[in-house]
Amino acid sequence: MDRILVRPSGPLAGDVKINGAKNSALKLMAACTLAEGTFRLNNVPDITDVRDMSDLLKSLGIIVEGNGTNTLEITNPGNLTPEAPYDLVERMRASIVVLGPLLATYGAARVALPGGDDFGPRPIDMHLRGLETLGAEFQSQHGYIEGRTEGLIGGRIVLEFPSVGATENVMMAAVRAEGETVIENAAREPEIADLASFLNRMGAKILGAGTSTILIEGVEKLVAVEHAVIPDRIEAATYLAATGIAGGEVNLIGARSDHMDMLCQKVGEMGMRISTDSNGLWVMANQDLNSVDLATLPYPGIATDYKPFLVAMLAVASGVGIVTENLFSGRFRYIDELVRMGADIRTEGHHAVIRGVKNLSGAPVRAHDIRAGAALVVAALKADGETEIRDPEHIDRGYEKLVENLCSLGADIQRVN
Ligand code: EPZ
Repeated sequence: MDRILVRPSGPLAGDVKINGAKNSALKLMAACTLAEGTFRLNNVPDITDVRDMSDLLKSLGIIVEGNGTNTLEITNPGNLTPEAPYDLVERMRASIVVLGPLLATYGAARVALPGGDDFGPRPIDMHLRGLETLGAEFQSQHGYIEGRTEGLIGGRIVLEFPSVGATENVMMAAVRAEGETVIENAAREPEIADLASFLNRMGAKILGAGTSTILIEGVEKLVAVEHAVIPDRIEAATYLAATGIAGGEVNLIGARSDHMDMLCQKVGEMGMRISTDSNGLWVMANQDLNSVDLATLPYPGIATDYKPFLVAMLAVASGVGIVTENLFSGRFRYIDELVRMGADIRTEGHHAVIRGVKNLSGAPVRAHDIRAGAALVVAALKADGETEIRDPEHIDRGYEKLVENLCSLGADIQRVN
């Protein structure tokens, strides 16, 4: 069983290259079901979720080459089997985004229903309602959702909440629907804009991605293209938090500050210094962090994915911070692990009250999901003695070389088995 061992270190220093965004790469891969030919995706992170999405594409009949590198060549020979089996969907919930493009291309799709996870229930009702507006019909049986359509027709979809997955699923279906689709209250994440620019390069006609109203004019045919994935703002936030906690001065090469405005503002209030240059983002912490209050919100608000890092920072900041989670009701589970490391945190419903302590205390802890696991790693940089993070394979789902990168910045960290 692998474990990550961390001991406190001095300030971090150096450069770290930010990889392509997991949550963009996975959707771009799903979009490769929409057109025959060979796609080339550059700047793809070499992580478990990408390998799982490759397995899913392969099970549909697509050839994926380049796993283990940052460039994937994805050949769609056409005539795919539009079915995503349970063992793959169970490994990775994001598999649900093949539903829209498969339905649009093949008129039928069968995708295993994703269950809940550590964040609580993860419904897909908005995905289905959006696709129904375009003329799809669904039935659910034997743990699968089965969709059919005689041909999708554009329509006006008002999302109840700006769901990332629902926006992507509907967008990938609407590009092949007849006529115009409007998505209102669409998610505005940079990964949505990246997916739209990939689809437009393929021949789609999408306007407004990155805003709350997306207009899509359906087209008859899409073609295979080359595209580079945008940098991962959540990975950048991880190294930013590591610098805030351990102190030091780090260059996040390739990071896009314009994708991280609210986060930069918040950590600025906490006492970190941040500046943008042509290489990415320079971050510096030379004093104890101050506590702040914050609430997670859809983009451009503070991402729920940043929250574990911000909670880890607040755990060693001076003062009291209140954190409110507005997206995933159960996304506080890692807090028990931080408390085992000596953090003073009380949760009440979707709020957490964090009283900063001077230092945490190294302990054996468990990574429950990607970001929670990475947050324990960065918290351990300021924990006396040794912290042992178990189940690091959860971290591998979303991080390429987290341990190696922190080590190169001067952290005392190693992976053992
Ligand atoms: C994406 O999940 C990301 N995953 C998540 O990152 C991220 O936390 C989340 O967006 C929010 O930013 C991927 O991109 C693969 P949502 P997604 O649909 O699309 C509710 C990571 O580790 N909802 O925006 O599933 C839902 O329950 C992952 O990188 C419905 O009620 O998120 C939640 O409360 C973790 N019905 C809220 O909307 C629906 O049909 C936001 O979910 C869909 C969602």
